[in-house]
Amino acid sequence: MFLSRIPQPFVLSRLAAFACALVAAPAARAAVDFEKNIVPILKAKCYDCHTGKKTEADKKPKGGLALDSTSGILSGNVIEAGNPDESSLYTRVILPQSDDDVMPPKKDGTPLTPVEIAAFKEWIAEGAHFGKAGSAPAGPVKQMTLDEVKAMGLKEPNPDGVRALTDLGATITAISVTTPQLLAVEFISGASLIGDDEVKQLMSIAPNVVELNLARTNVTDEGLKAVGAFARLTKLNLNNTKITDAGLEHLVGLTGLDWLNLYGTSVSDSGLASIAKLRNLKAVYLWNSKVSDEGVAKLQKALGSAKVVDKVWSESSRFDLEDL
Ligand code: HEC
Repeated sequence: MFLSRIPQPFVLSRLAAFACALVAAPAARAAVDFEKNIVPILKAKCYDCHTGKKTEADKKPKGGLALDSTSGILSGNVIEAGNPDESSLYTRVILPQSDDDVMPPKKDGTPLTPVEIAAFKEWIAEGAHFGKAGSAPAGPVKQMTLDEVKAMGLKEPNPDGVRALTDLGATITAISVTTPQLLAVEFISGASLIGDDEVKQLMSIAPNVVELNLARTNVTDEGLKAVGAFARLTKLNLNNTKITDAGLEHLVGLTGLDWLNLYGTSVSDSGLASIAKLRNLKAVYLWNSKVSDEGVAKLQKALGSAKVVDKVWSESSRFDLEDL
């Protein structure tokens, strides 16, 4: 079910929870209106640093992000329509004040109020429309699949990137006909020729990759740094690779990850601490790694209902999706 799979942001502080409650009460009212509800917040709390206007003092908007135009917001890639938790416009404002990444920055800005945070969240959840609220055509709302939601606002993969990767031996397929933007990438033959440099080349199509199979490649912790930037990744196969506990630390931001195979690696209990942060994991494979029974039990506890397999695993299927 789509709803049950929305990532639970562990950053969701009591403050943000309170904000949700505030919005829940008047939820029956009209949708959030961009001009009326969002622009005033941006103006008051973000424009100081994020406008496209060029002034003598500061020629560029901070972070390359202009929030004073629709095109600026869209090209900044800071919203994923329908999914606040994947939208940095929202996730950056709900960070605790102690976090260096919080927006506005702690020293130079006024934090958003709970009501303002709630408006951001609701606006994005409703699809981040820039027009007037309620201007969307009436009629039955089509129920979107999770893949369709994930693909919203996503461009077709860079064709040069795809070609270069195919030349390297990657098999790249769309995960479904309805979402040609979402890709599964595998190195089936010649996996041993694939190393960190090749993995880094995947960055050219990073936003499009949702499933990545690096089993038996020569990827190391260095390559996992790149993999950590694959924000839409849901399945990652690292079986029989040289990655270690340190490499897993690069993956903690992959909150959408639901399937992870670490079979045949030197991952040990200390690496499981990183894995335990991935609360959407539904299956983790640890057979033939260096984890202890105790470490597995601890991980199982942290992940709740996820399937943690540390004994035997049949390699018959690439991603045993049926089990999820
Ligand atoms: C005092 C200046 C300042 C203010 C005010 C400010 N920001 Fe920023 N913002 C920055 C700087 C500097 C960066 C780039 C460094 C970074 O990513 O932390 C940034 C980066 C960002 C990013 C990340 C952009 C990216 O491409 O990753 C987002 C999102 C963002 N800001 C949102 C906001 C929002 C929303 C507001 C208003 C609620 C806001 N900022 C207010 C200075 C500011």
